[in-house]
Amino acid sequence: MALETQTKTVVGQFEYSDEDVNKGVAEFLRQMAEGLEKDGASMSQIPTYVTAVPNGTEKGLYMAVDLGGTNFRVCSIQLNGDTTFRLTYTKVAIPRELMVAKTAEELFAFLAKQVEIFLRTHHGEHFEAHIRRRMTMSSPEGFKDENVFRLGFTFSFPVQQLGINKGTLIRWTKGFDIPDAVGKDVCALLQTEIDKLHLPVKVAALVNDTVGTLMARSYSSPGKSGAILGAIFGTGTNGAYVEKLSNIKKPLAGEYDKSTGEMVINTEWGSFDNQLKVLPNTPWDVQLDLATPNPGIQMYEKRVSGMYLGEILRLTVIDLLKNPDVALFKDDNSSYNDWKSTTNIAEHSPIYKQWGLDTSVLSVAAADSTPELSILRQELEANLHIYAPSLEDAQAFKAIAGAIGRRAARLSAVAIAAIVLQTGKLNDPELDEPIDIGVDGSLVEHYPYFRDMIYEALRVIKGIGEEGAKRIRIGIAKDGSGVGAALIALVAARMEKSTSTADFISDLRLNAKKTDLTAVPEDSELAAGE
Ligand code: GLC
Repeated sequence: MALETQTKTVVGQFEYSDEDVNKGVAEFLRQMAEGLEKDGASMSQIPTYVTAVPNGTEKGLYMAVDLGGTNFRVCSIQLNGDTTFRLTYTKVAIPRELMVAKTAEELFAFLAKQVEIFLRTHHGEHFEAHIRRRMTMSSPEGFKDENVFRLGFTFSFPVQQLGINKGTLIRWTKGFDIPDAVGKDVCALLQTEIDKLHLPVKVAALVNDTVGTLMARSYSSPGKSGAILGAIFGTGTNGAYVEKLSNIKKPLAGEYDKSTGEMVINTEWGSFDNQLKVLPNTPWDVQLDLATPNPGIQMYEKRVSGMYLGEILRLTVIDLLKNPDVALFKDDNSSYNDWKSTTNIAEHSPIYKQWGLDTSVLSVAAADSTPELSILRQELEANLHIYAPSLEDAQAFKAIAGAIGRRAARLSAVAIAAIVLQTGKLNDPELDEPIDIGVDGSLVEHYPYFRDMIYEALRVIKGIGEEGAKRIRIGIAKDGSGVGAALIALVAARMEKSTSTADFISDLRLNAKKTDLTAVPEDSELAAGE
């Protein structure tokens, strides 16, 4: 079969029609409601107990760490007491072997070590002073509590939250698999390792990255009302939104402030429709799922997020390569090939290795609109070791990669639309400003036109339409998870002192215009709002 025809067939299998999108939204709403009613539903809908915010007058140095996927980040935030702050951070890749370590201790000891290195590097004086105090201390309670850093722990996996700094791991996602940690309190695991190193750090708050993103975006988004949703479209995908307490039907075990009538819910939408009632399911989705440590789980995430899109593409390409009738990356049928070169794939090409294709390849393919697709062809050579690919090869690759990316964006619109509809904001006559959504993650940031494709899908959704889509503002809340965690650590510190818990969301809004949390540059240090 000609390559073009075969490509069309494959692309067709990734099509996710307007009708599919609408069916998806209806089912998403149903599964959200189910998760609010009982534990153990496909979408966990985890109550976060987050109901109070800082008011911008706090002073002090707070820390946040972020474990969520590929990297571990440690940051500190100096709050100046006038709503400005200074953020410093470092980032280290998590060694693959630690993602599947035998014991939780191995991973958490590594994390604590990074906290120590960070403290020594960036807060040497504070750290040394602490050590001196410990050495000279005459009584066990010798050092003062205020010398201890309060740390917000962004832990981006499904956790049963039991309180502001207590929560047990429900299951691992995104390639992590350390069975020993499941069911344990992850704050305690981290605190134990921190204590072994005698660090002046108290794990004060446990936060999902989506909750941090929602907080940071609420704090910084323009306008009176805060964001309704914080969402990640990166290595994994998930969203946290503001839900009415009256809609949360399942029992809430921990203490919380009822005065706002709302609570932030971590949806864990990565596991939307694990039953595959409405999710698309190509043979490559099936293959991918079977080769993961968690088959049958995170089925939505496996079609949407950065960790998986490269692998779906790889499996699709491999199938085409295996077919002797399809002339993909084969020299014989490449009419525009340089006549002297021979298309060939190196034996060690990442195309032959599980997880070999990074999702960034999809971004390169989508971004290349040169007539000869020369950028993509260079990428195929340089990074995939597929030599002398023809224009037709590159066109086929681009079309398939594009179809996978487009399906991911349209699926993303399903979740966003369902949450917008759930909040009822589109029908709120009082609301005269955009419905704000904070997003973060490599896909929304780097995949060309990802947000445009989301909007395109939003426009065809019943209950949203052209007009509704115009009212939805999707804005980047870059690195919100770190900043958000520090903000919640601060709230937790206030709660420790039993200060009354104020209106979480509206306090954030008050400070909104003064401090810009949306842009965190690449350098390790910056001052915001100064
Ligand atoms: C995975 C995790 C979730 C996290 C998301 C984005 O879906 O289960 O907790 O928020 O990835 O990092």
